[in-house]
Amino acid sequence: IPNQVKTITCIGAGYVGGPTMAVIAKNCPHIRVNVVDINPERIAAWNDTDLEKLPIYEPGLKEVVAEARGRNLFFSTDVDQGIRDGQMIFISVNTPTKTYGTGKGMAADLKYVELCARQIAKVAQEDKIVVEKSTLPVRTAESIKRILQAEDTEHNFAILSNPEFLAEGTAIDDLQHADRMLIGGEEDENGQRAIEALVNVYANWIPRERLITTRVWSSELSKLTANAVLAQRVSSINAISALCERTGADVDEVAHAIGMDSRIGPKFLKASVGFGGSCFQKDILNLVYLCRHFNLPEVADYWEQVVKLNDYQKHRFAKNIVDSLFNTVSGKKITFLGWAFKKDTNDTRESAAIYVAKELLDDHAEIHVYDPKVTKEQIFKDLEYLLTQKGDCHSEGSEAMRNLLQRVTVHTSPYPAMDEAHAIAVLTEWDEFKTYDWKEIYNNMHKPAFIFDGRNILNAKELAEIGFSYKGIGKG
Ligand code: UDX
Ligand code: UDX
Ligand code: ADP
Repeated sequence: IPNQVKTITCIGAGYVGGPTMAVIAKNCPHIRVNVVDINPERIAAWNDTDLEKLPIYEPGLKEVVAEARGRNLFFSTDVDQGIRDGQMIFISVNTPTKTYGTGKGMAADLKYVELCARQIAKVAQEDKIVVEKSTLPVRTAESIKRILQAEDTEHNFAILSNPEFLAEGTAIDDLQHADRMLIGGEEDENGQRAIEALVNVYANWIPRERLITTRVWSSELSKLTANAVLAQRVSSINAISALCERTGADVDEVAHAIGMDSRIGPKFLKASVGFGGSCFQKDILNLVYLCRHFNLPEVADYWEQVVKLNDYQKHRFAKNIVDSLFNTVSGKKITFLGWAFKKDTNDTRESAAIYVAKELLDDHAEIHVYDPKVTKEQIFKDLEYLLTQKGDCHSEGSEAMRNLLQRVTVHTSPYPAMDEAHAIAVLTEWDEFKTYDWKEIYNNMHKPAFIFDGRNILNAKELAEIGFSYKGIGKG
């Protein structure tokens, strides 16, 4: 096992693999970085000369790709070649929650990871360092190692756990100025050499004292715990937002006041329509599944409550819209500003908007959506997926599905989206929403004109003066 590498290959060119490898390539011009993926459209988009067509939107990503692509950053569909070339191989494939069989709805689906491990073993012609970058349950590294060793007895494999802590929308900045980089490895000599090799990569731009090395399982568990604790903060403040609405307190004032306590801190205390994203719910459910597996039901129930509260928050938002609109939204135009799970990303996985839309569609509302970065195709895909998953519609082209989706319109500009609406719901905190001409929007809406601000980003006082009936989260 080498303790210095000249070539890195990443399997999986998604939200994690793409930006991470771009930043490594930028900071390590002496290392050749190959990113491989089985999805040819994705790879073509990464290779597009028009940088606006990159498959994911992240502030600053374009610039990094422009600098490194073709120099020491390469995107390809040739997975085998990538595996042969890379002295160090990152596994960055998706690990969604299982939708079938044992652990359905809870455990992580590791089939893509396992396929990668088998392929690495089949193709490898030398010793390899294998880095798990995808979020994985504790002890996955051990399984990967067993698969590798069973399939290939000739070469050494060292497995590292190197969880990603980047948040979407700020991925490039998070990677470039990481708070910490966590590397878990085995305690034997090969393990230690592998850790050194990865430390040597990150040390090109991250100060050494921020590179933390641990044993493998601590590293794997830290990832789940970090996301569980962050999500718990959001669920905690969201729980208080419900109480604020009943009592006349203001949740933003409460968050500000408690955040000044240095033991609590100000971050991740923004009440919202509910957290989304590919990680929070998945990682918590993973943790819950693990705790049940190790016969710790009290611990499992404790963490599961964070997800339940989040479901409650999304439901509360939808219900508040129906209640406020005189108990019926049937046939009423409700405009969603934002569909992404947070601003500055085109990612919509687990976005609260999808769940709120479904509840309102069940109540026969007409949903109009405007999001600056999310495509119409993605929005319909999200709804179709949720509807089939919830069992409301059996198949994608079914009549029930068509009937529901007929009541969804996606707009590419904001003002027509809000024309003649009964209500506006802010689902994502995009900055541009604050700059709109709200007087003009008000004039073109049905009265009373409602705004449900699921992100508390608009100016409540100004909107009330215009005549809007404004409702924020946790504003009693
Ligand atoms: C607490 C609040 O901190 C304080 O702001 C409030 O005004 C009163 O209640 P106190 O109960 O005096 O203060 O002590 P604190 O330091 O908060 O500890 C409470 C308990 O939690 C102790 O038993 C302590 O041992 C325990 N604790 C604290 C832990 O087990 N782990 C920790 O990380 C912190
Ligand atoms: C998260 C972790 O932050 C990151 O470290 C990990 O590697 C991956 O998961 P991400 O899901 O990209 O990152 O975004 P994050 O900023 O954590 O937001 C998650 C969700 O919580 C979003 O829907 C966001 O709107 C919501 N949120 C966040 C709140 O509602 N309130 C807050 O105060 C913070
Ligand atoms: P994440 O947010 O974890 O990066 P994404 O879904 O955005 O998740 O990206 C994962 C990528 O991994 C996808 O582009 C998918 O095509 C790719 N992938 C999954 N399995 C394999 C595999 N066996 N070989 C190569 N690429 C794979």
